[in-house]
Formats: sequence, C-alpha cells, structure tokens
Amino acid sequence: MTYTNPLRDPQDRRLPRIAGPCGMVLFGVTGDLSRKKVMPAIYDLANRGLLPPGFSLVGFARRDWANQDFAQIVHDSVKAHARTEFREEVWKQLAEGFRFVSGDFDDDVAFDTLRRTIEELDDVRGTGGNHAFYLAIPPAFFGDVVGQLQEHGLADPAEGSWRRVVVEKPFGHDLESARELNGILDGVFPPGSIFRIDHYLGKETVQNILAMRFANAMFEPLWNNNYVDHVQITMAEDIGIGGRAGYYDGIGAARDVIQNHLLQLMCLVAMEEPTSFDAESLRIEKQKVLKSIALPRRLDLATARGQYAEGWQGGEKVVGFLEEEGIRKTSTTETFAAVRLDVDTRRWAGVPFYLRTGKRLGRRVTEVAVVFKQAPHLPFSQSSTEELTHNALVIRVQPDEGMTIRFGSKVPGTAMEIRDVNMDFAYGGSFTEESPEAYERLILDVLLGDPPLFPRHEEVELSWMILDPILDAWAKKGKPDAYESGTWGPASADKMLARDGRVWRRP
Ligand code: BG6
Repeated sequence: MTYTNPLRDPQDRRLPRIAGPCGMVLFGVTGDLSRKKVMPAIYDLANRGLLPPGFSLVGFARRDWANQDFAQIVHDSVKAHARTEFREEVWKQLAEGFRFVSGDFDDDVAFDTLRRTIEELDDVRGTGGNHAFYLAIPPAFFGDVVGQLQEHGLADPAEGSWRRVVVEKPFGHDLESARELNGILDGVFPPGSIFRIDHYLGKETVQNILAMRFANAMFEPLWNNNYVDHVQITMAEDIGIGGRAGYYDGIGAARDVIQNHLLQLMCLVAMEEPTSFDAESLRIEKQKVLKSIALPRRLDLATARGQYAEGWQGGEKVVGFLEEEGIRKTSTTETFAAVRLDVDTRRWAGVPFYLRTGKRLGRRVTEVAVVFKQAPHLPFSQSSTEELTHNALVIRVQPDEGMTIRFGSKVPGTAMEIRDVNMDFAYGGSFTEESPEAYERLILDVLLGDPPLFPRHEEVELSWMILDPILDAWAKKGKPDAYESGTWGPASADKMLARDGRVWRRP
C-alpha cells in the first residue's frame, strides 16, 4: 500500500512535508560526507519532526562493529555537526532504529544479512518495505553495490512500496565515464528512483533564484541581453584541500565544482520560466540552457586555471598545493578554474557568463552577480560619475545569505556627484527561521520521492560535454599557473577578463 498522509494536500506548501514510513541504508559510514553531512541531517530532520517515528538507519561498512558501535559514531557526528540542539528523547527514539551490517561490497553473505535486517526493520519498526540506499562511497564502487542490491533482491520493491538509490558526485570524470555510471544505475533502478545529489540545489539561496526571478515582476524584464552586460558566478573557498588529497588530486576544481554546482547555478540564472516546478518541467528548461552553451573558440584565452602556492590565510602561513600531504609533487591538478561560457539564445546572445572557483582564495564566498549595462546616456559631467560603475544584482548564496542591488546615487552635498551604493536584503533580517542545511532538504526529498532538486542523467552528460573539451585543452598545456594562497587566483584569470574589457568582482 502506498503511504499517503491524509492531512497533507501535496500542493499545500504551508503544511510540513513529513516522510512516510521508511528507512535508509548508508554505505560509506566512515567517510567525511556521512559524518559531517548525512548523519547530522538525519538527526536534524528527526528533531524537526519530519521523519516517521519508526525511521531506520542501517550502516554498511567493512568494520567489525556491533549496532552500538555504529550508534556511537552517529552520536559523535550529530554532537559535532548537527544544526539543531541535541535532545535526548529525539536521539533515543532515532537510535532505536539503528542497525549495522559488516561486510565488503563483494560479500554475498553481508548482502543477505542486509536483506534480513531490512525485513526485520519492516516488522519491528514498520518501515513498510520503503528503503533508500545512500551510496556515500567512491563511484568506482557504485557498480559493485548496485549489482549486489539487484542480486539480493534489495532493489525491487514489493507492490506498493519503494526502493531508491542516492548517489553523490563526482558523476564520472568525463562524458564517457559518466555514461558508464549512468548505465550501471539505469540497469538496476528506474530513472524515477535514482537521486543524484548536487548539494548546491538544496541550498535555500539557490532555490531562491527561482523565487526571485519568477515570483516578481521587476527583475525578469531586465533579465536579457538588452540590459545585462555579463554574469559572474563565483564559488571561492578559503580552505585548501584538507585531508581530501586522495579524492582531489587528478580531479581538480573544474570537475569538482564547475561540472556540477556552477553549471547548475548557471542553468537557474539563464533558464526560461518552467511551466511548473515539477521535476520534468525544470529539467527541460535546464537542459535547454546546457544544450545552448557555446564554448569560446580560443579556449586558451577564455579560460584560466591555477594551483595554489604557499601564502597567508587568516593570519597563518599555509603550504602550497604541491606540499600538501598525499599530493604528487608533479601534480598538474588545478585548484582554481575560470571559464567563459556563452548561451546561444535570443535572450542571452552576447552576454558572457564567467564561472570561477578556487581553493585558498581571499575569502569563502559563493555569489551570482548579474552585472548590467551602463545607462545609454549620462546627462552629467564626466567627473560627476567617476565613481559610478555598473548596476548589479548580487545573489549572495553564502555566507551572509541574501541579495544586494548596486546602483548609483547622489552623494549628499552641493555638487552633483554620483557614486555606487548598495541596497541589501539579508535572510537574517527578514526571516526568523534559520535556513535548513542543504542535506536536510535533499534527504527529506529522497524519502518523499520528490525529484525536482536532483539533476537527471541527461544534465550530467550535457555538463560533461561542455567540460571535456576544456579539460582536454588544459591537459595538453601541462602545469596550471601558480597563485599565492589568500589571493584571488592567478594573473591569467584577470587577463582573461581584461581581454573582454571587464574585471572580476572582489567580493
Ligand atoms: C563539494 C566539493 O561539492 O563542495 C568541495 O567537493 C567543496 O571541494 C564543497 O569544498 C563546498 O561546499 P559548500 O556547501 O561548503 O560550499
């Protein structure tokens, strides 16, 4: 029987969205992602009353743990990283649904045990046969795990129940490997049961791009090449690669961030109004953007990549990428990437989108800046407007979530002097409720079977089609340009914009 909450009209967004009876199986319980994001988000959902009372969480890993050992790991992760306060009664109820299955991914006995564990949970916790398999593991193991799920009858739901699989990026490292991965998943789960997490889409401020564009009358008329000069999408981090050398070396900034988060942000900024906010309508519009993206002819002039050298960050001396533990001394992996992309549509022809990301940059900030053309005529003396630049609308994704509109204003005084000023909207000032973590929203959506915020496999493949030629061109060039830690990237990135007569924002 399909669970429906009789109190909930699915169209009514004022009522809390509460998951029906279900459980989750987590592969990769010892990894950073599970401990820092997934486990705390599960607790936060339970604490907010959004999980069913019998929710179960099964950890699967090679460790020789008992259920209590697993519970302790979750407990420590929740204490360290949960957003909401720790409440003993919530924890106790949640922890009753914890189980641990020990085994390798090729261990048939372990997967039999997993099946029995799930059946037992259906009996004692009332999870109703509804289970999500969360693969917080390297993609190289996706094939083994989904193969085992299929073989042991775990991927097929009984009548009226569901089975879903959740995967995290990287969705491959190029188009070919992405197709291979998609093939593996599609071979076992139907498309509607595959949830690819791009955690940027779970962020409130990212979803607000759609609200801002399509719930208001004042922005959309300007949202085109008549008024927009260019768009800058920046995701800057002040941290280095930390303990992620094994993952990052050979992957680099473009694959890690541009292929997924930044292209998804670009889609939301550039897409046409969807006919509704269901998954299919959104996907169609995002796909149209990806299909219309044109690469510049001279990739060497319209892209830049860098690698951080030693420098100062937050008052501390930090080492360069090549001195980081676990990084090959000859590594050519980029830690900074910038690309210019054009969208060949009537709306955007002639408006470049500049995407950049990097580690060990000046500050942690993610923003989308829509920079407008200057007024066609300024009826002022030139000296009056020396400090007037371009009007801009900046969506501050994080931190300091909100939006800024920059425009020119008269400086008080007897002379007509015009200077840029900012008008700000800050979440903290307008709303009393704190934004949930992206993973809370996305995990809840998985359990509810609500797919709009999850990229489909076509989007993943189209994104690789954009990135592959850039990566190929870079591979032929050898070493990325060095930049000092704590700065805003290599000089080549500034030159790249200067060639177009523009400058990067210094957020
Ligand atoms: C991840 C990348 O997807 O996003 C990391 O793999 C990056 O390299 C992280 O640090 C940043 O996420 P957020 O939410 O902190 O901006």
